[in-house]
Amino acid sequence: MMNGKQRIVSALNREPVDRTPVWFMRQAGRHLPEYRALAAEHSFWERCKDIDLCTTITMQPIHRYKSIDAAIIFSDILTPLPALGYDVEYGGGIRIDPFAFDDVDDWTTFSARKHAPWAADGLRAIGEEHQDIARLGFVGCPWTTSMYLMAGGTGDKEFQQTRATVYSNQEQSMRVLLTVAEAIGDLLADQVNHGGADAVQMFDTWAGLLNESDYRRFAKPATERAIEVFRNKANRQIPLIHYAKGSSHLHEEIRSLDIDAISLDWRDDLKTNRTLYGDAFAFQGNLDPSRMHGSPQAAQAAARRVLNDAGDKPGHIFNLGHGFAPGAQIDCVEAVLRTVTGE
Ligand code: CP3
Repeated sequence: MMNGKQRIVSALNREPVDRTPVWFMRQAGRHLPEYRALAAEHSFWERCKDIDLCTTITMQPIHRYKSIDAAIIFSDILTPLPALGYDVEYGGGIRIDPFAFDDVDDWTTFSARKHAPWAADGLRAIGEEHQDIARLGFVGCPWTTSMYLMAGGTGDKEFQQTRATVYSNQEQSMRVLLTVAEAIGDLLADQVNHGGADAVQMFDTWAGLLNESDYRRFAKPATERAIEVFRNKANRQIPLIHYAKGSSHLHEEIRSLDIDAISLDWRDDLKTNRTLYGDAFAFQGNLDPSRMHGSPQAAQAAARRVLNDAGDKPGHIFNLGHGFAPGAQIDCVEAVLRTVTGE
C-alpha cells in the first residue's frame, strides 16, 4: 500500500497510484470544533506564528480524518504583508493598514527566512514527525494578494473599486504586482528549501474577476515572475499546483504558466480537462464545497460523479472546487472520504 506522500507526489507526476489521493482546501479551519477551541484561546496570528499551535492545527484534519493524504501548512496568503509595512488584522473580515502607490519605494527586500519564517518552520517540524504524509506549502498569487493589500482588507464586492484603481494606474499597479511577486516567490521557495514541502500550491482566488486580456496584462506577468523567482530559488524541482476560482475563461493562459497541476473550480468540467489536457497536467478537484453542507448521501453521490469524471488515467487528486466554509459538516466529509478511498 502506498502512503499519502507517495500517492500525492505520484499523482502530481501523473504516475499510477493505488487509490485516488485526497486532501481539501481549507481543511484546517473553522469547520473543525478542535480548531474553533484553539481559535477561541489564541489570535489568528498566534495560530500562524506559534510553531506548536501551527503544527497542531495543520495536523488536526489529518488526525480526525484518517485517509487524508496531504497536510497543507496552516498559514495565510497575507502573511508577507507586515514585512512590507502593513499590519493585517483578522476576525470578522480582514483589515490591512492603508496602502498608497508611493509606499513601494520604501518596501524592504522581503526575505521569508527573516520576515515570515513560520510556514517553513511548521512544515519542517511536521516532517520530523510524519514521513508518510505529503506536506504542502502555499502562497497567494500576486494579483489576489495585491487585491487585499490595495483594498485595505476584505474589500468591496468583487474588488470593484480596487480593480478600477488598477485600471486607472496601470504602470504603478504593475510595479506593485511585480514587487509582491518577488516576495511571494521567495516565501514559496523557503517552504521547499527550509520546510521540505513535497509540493506547493498558488492561490489566485480573484483572478477570475479579470477578463482574458486584463489577466494577460496584470495578473499573469506577476504570477510568471513569482514562479520564476520560486523556481530559481527552490533547491529542487517541485510540483506546483495552481488554483484560480471561477477561471475557466482564463484556462488557456493558465496552462501556459510553468505549473504542473491545475486545481479546478467546481464549475469547471473535470472530464473535458482530463481528456484534453490530462497528459500535460495533473488535475485536482473539484467537488462543489456546498456538497459538504447537505446530506452525506448526496455528498457521496456527487463525489462518485467527480471520480467518474476524473476517469482512470493517472494524475487526479480529489479535492474541493474551493475551500471548506465554516459550516461544512463532518459526517459529509467522512462520507466523501469513504467514497474516495473505497472503504
Ligand atoms: O487550507 C488550509 O487548511 C490552510 C490554511 C489556509 C488559510 N487561508 C487559513 C485561514 C489557506 C490555504 C488560506 C488561503 C487563503 N487566505 C486564500 C486563498 C484560498 C481561498 O480560500 O480562496 C484567501 C483568499 C485568503 C484570505 C483570507 N484569509 C480570507 C478571505 C479569510 C477570511 C476572513 C474572515 O472573514 O474572517 C482569511 C482568514 C483565514 N485564513 C481563516 C483561516 C482558517 C479564517 C479565520 C479564522 O479561522 O479565524
